[in-house]
Amino acid sequence: MGRMTRKLVATAFGAPREVLTVVDVELPTASVGTVTVDVRAAGLNPFDVKSVQGVMGEDPAKLPLQIGNECSGVVREAAAGTGPAVGDRVVVYPVSGAFAETVVAPAASVHTLPDTVDFDQAAGLLLAGVTAYDLVETLDITETDTVLVHGGAGAVGSIAVVLAVSRGAAVIATASPANHEAVRALGATPVDHHSVLLDAVRSAATTPVTAVIDTVGVDDAIDVSLELVEPGRIASIAAWGRAGDGITILDGSTDASKRHRRDAVQPLLAAAADGRIVIEVAGTSTFDDAADSFDALAGRHPRGKYILHP
Ligand SMILES: NC(=O)c1ccc[n+]([C@@H]2O[C@H](COP(=O)([O-])OP(=O)(O)OC[C@H]3O[C@@H](n4cnc5c(N)ncnc54)[C@H](OP(=O)(O)O)[C@@H]3O)[C@@H](O)[C@H]2O)c1
Repeated sequence: MGRMTRKLVATAFGAPREVLTVVDVELPTASVGTVTVDVRAAGLNPFDVKSVQGVMGEDPAKLPLQIGNECSGVVREAAAGTGPAVGDRVVVYPVSGAFAETVVAPAASVHTLPDTVDFDQAAGLLLAGVTAYDLVETLDITETDTVLVHGGAGAVGSIAVVLAVSRGAAVIATASPANHEAVRALGATPVDHHSVLLDAVRSAATTPVTAVIDTVGVDDAIDVSLELVEPGRIASIAAWGRAGDGITILDGSTDASKRHRRDAVQPLLAAAADGRIVIEVAGTSTFDDAADSFDALAGRHPRGKYILHP
């Protein structure tokens, strides 16, 4: 029997509270191309919730389902001379099965963590961050743009706002009223998505909207966007049913998206290190009570990331 680790998995597809369980599993064998990391925190994302619920498919061959794609921790074992050394603080992304006490990750996914970024922040930064970066790069946002961000208080949307503002663009962002102050603090003009959206955006925009970043995917958001700009200036990570409208739907699978997301990691860590990007934590839970965080993220939830601790 090899080395063991505790891991959060789903034994079936369904309600997190019914299918999540913590198991002891054998750690994969470490090799020259891998780094073994003792996990201190792992970031929960909507993808994890949907995967467990079966929204992304219900292939029984995938059970028990490995969950979690990002975590932070301390290097326990690494090949000498390449990348992080034993004892270094690191963030790990992308990695599959991140909800574990220990992960064995490809060396290319293990990034040195700046001292000023704590483990919880780091664990919630990269999946949302690289996605935001991909959206902004794909649309080639510049200081000539006025950008509408749907979901500007969300994990991806809030980082997209920061990145677009840092490029000099004017930004209008939809959010619930409770999040308007936070959106304003990021440098965007907030608009309530519960209002008549087209009217609200038009009255908030001092210059015509030239590009749309959608992180929500609801039809209203896409319909309003198509009223404002050509489909080629709309990029979404959530409007899967609307590809036929000619908008760009990003899932990280194209060569360009993969490049954007790889290129994003170091700038995001630098921005987190000097406070240009701040990851808020909405809640934490242990693996044993992880269903609380899954259920919270699945519903209407406060701003910020849910972070799991082994
Ligand atoms: N394709 C990809 O590569 C990729 C990558 C990452 C995430 N995603 C997807 O992107 C989506 C967002 O992820 P996330 O991590 O940013 O989630 P999140 O942190 O939960 O943020 C979602 C935001 O959506 C807002 N919202 C909810 N209903 C809305 C509506 N009707 N109109 C406008 N805004 C609304 C909420 O804002 P308020 O609270 O202010 O109402 C919330 O802040 C998820 O569906 C996720 O699966 C896709």
